Amino acid sequence: MTRFFHPAEPSDRPAVEALLTASALPVSDLPADLDGFLILLDGDVLAACGGVEPLDGTTGLVRSLVVAPPLRGQGIADALLTSLEALARKRGLTTLCMLTTTIAAFAKARGFIPTSRAAAPLAIQTTAQFQGLCPDSATLLIKALPRT
Ligand SMILES: CC(C)(COP(=O)(O)OP(=O)(O)OC[C@H]1O[C@@H](n2cnc3c(N)ncnc32)[C@H](O)[C@@H]1OP(=O)(O)O)[C@@H](O)C(=O)NCCC(=O)NCCS
Repeated sequence: MTRFFHPAEPSDRPAVEALLTASALPVSDLPADLDGFLILLDGDVLAACGGVEPLDGTTGLVRSLVVAPPLRGQGIADALLTSLEALARKRGLTTLCMLTTTIAAFAKARGFIPTSRAAAPLAIQTTAQFQGLCPDSATLLIKALPRT
């Protein structure tokens, strides 16, 4: 399988929702058109997805990062995060946030810094994920994107 991530189309939504739901990740607040989402196909089957949701002009939330169970452990999430960071920079974002109960160590290893929820930028405090979809135990991590 070539690791070619491409922008999700609105028609990818059922497959994206199914993959996220199977990993107990929220889908109720997905953007309708999946703007900012990248997907990886294995043949016709959705193998991975993830998105960057712009929160304001400079900050984005990395969200819905998921890899199909049989394909985990091969570096797909690592490559997907790199592609999402490139997309964010292309869109003029300078900061990325992540809220996670599962992959804080993964994010830390990739330059995200754990940050107190009390110190969260206003832009993230107003998201559905921060306000309830992600549990209070979720770790907030923030990364300043390097300039290109
Ligand atoms: C988390 C997830 C996306 C990782 O995908 P992956 O393609 O297997 O990840 P990679 O092969 O790129 O592994 C990269 C790193 O993640 C770690 N990792 C993989 N799966 C993990 C998991 N379930 N929990 C924590 N860390 C995990 C690996 O140990 C590896 O760490 P290292 O490079 O620092 O040694 C995948 O396990 C998944 O879809 N999990 C369910 C959904 C989820 O929890 N998403 C996070 C939402 S914020």
